[in-house]
Amino acid sequence: MRVVKVGFLGFGNIGSGVYQVLRDNADLIEHRDGLRFEVKRMLVRDVNKNRKFMVGTKLTTDVADIAGDPEIEFVCEFMGGIHPAREYILEVLKAGKTVITANKQVLANCWPELQAAAQESGAGLYFEASVAGGIPIIRTMWDSIQANHIDSIMGIINGTTNYILTRMTEEGLSYEEVLESAQKLGLAEPDPTSDVEGYDAMYKLSILGSMGFHTRLPIDVIYHEGITKVTKEDIAYGKEMGYTLKLLAIGKKRGNEVEARVHPAFIPNTHPLASIRGAFNAVFMHGDAVGDLMLYGRGAGDLPTASAIISDLVYACHQDKHRYMTFKNQPFLDPGTTILEDW
Ligand code: HSE
Repeated sequence: MRVVKVGFLGFGNIGSGVYQVLRDNADLIEHRDGLRFEVKRMLVRDVNKNRKFMVGTKLTTDVADIAGDPEIEFVCEFMGGIHPAREYILEVLKAGKTVITANKQVLANCWPELQAAAQESGAGLYFEASVAGGIPIIRTMWDSIQANHIDSIMGIINGTTNYILTRMTEEGLSYEEVLESAQKLGLAEPDPTSDVEGYDAMYKLSILGSMGFHTRLPIDVIYHEGITKVTKEDIAYGKEMGYTLKLLAIGKKRGNEVEARVHPAFIPNTHPLASIRGAFNAVFMHGDAVGDLMLYGRGAGDLPTASAIISDLVYACHQDKHRYMTFKNQPFLDPGTTILEDW
């Protein structure tokens, strides 16, 4: 049995979930993989704040306590946002520690820089939790469908907007009515901009497209439009014609051309994505060998996200040598350009 010391960057909702699953499922992880994880330090802004788990002197406000600790091999990041997450991740990578991040925004914006720092020090960079929470979409692309040319990725990868659109569809409510109720229930952020304007899905599509198309898909080539202008009348007309409105993240590749876009789209009720209700996520892909493939599950939440982060921790422990993405040069179509509208 190997004892593995871990540091956390952040210790909020997701960090507490990871801490809880590592504690509750420790025997299972040890039995299955011969590993016992010990969280040694957590970087937080305020050590005196009331937390779900009171861990006393493990809390620190200085990233150097983690980067400079020779016992800590792995660092999990769930701070979110670009700054100071980027700087902290770079610091620990440069110190040779493998990073497991749930942070789609920092990855979508700074991936080449973070990966270069990891390669330089031989550390790993893992990010299963950055897209679609508990759905094992990154590992599927990396390790399970690698023999395919993937030509299409279509995802419902933002749970907040899928929840809003589902209630608008099923209850005939307006966007404003559902948003207000979702905010009261804590299902939508007080500032929902990133979700409802399509930024969150755009970051995730950047990561998925980069994995699937073996090229870096930067956010500035992704067209994005949110759901704020969707009316209940739009949805009702679609319903009459046999269509369901979803916020879709779409990536397509034909020959050397890649298009990427996030926008509300009417999809036929017969398509598997039309049946994804509420805050769930799903990714529907097509590969030349595997054909159609769909993954479905919880795209957010402390425990589903913890499932993905711990999967990365275990996976990284079993690597003799960390692997890195190789990005091919790729021309992109102008944002919003459509190659093909096929279902
Ligand atoms: N705000 C995101 C969503 C959370 O609604 O899907 C997970 O990234």
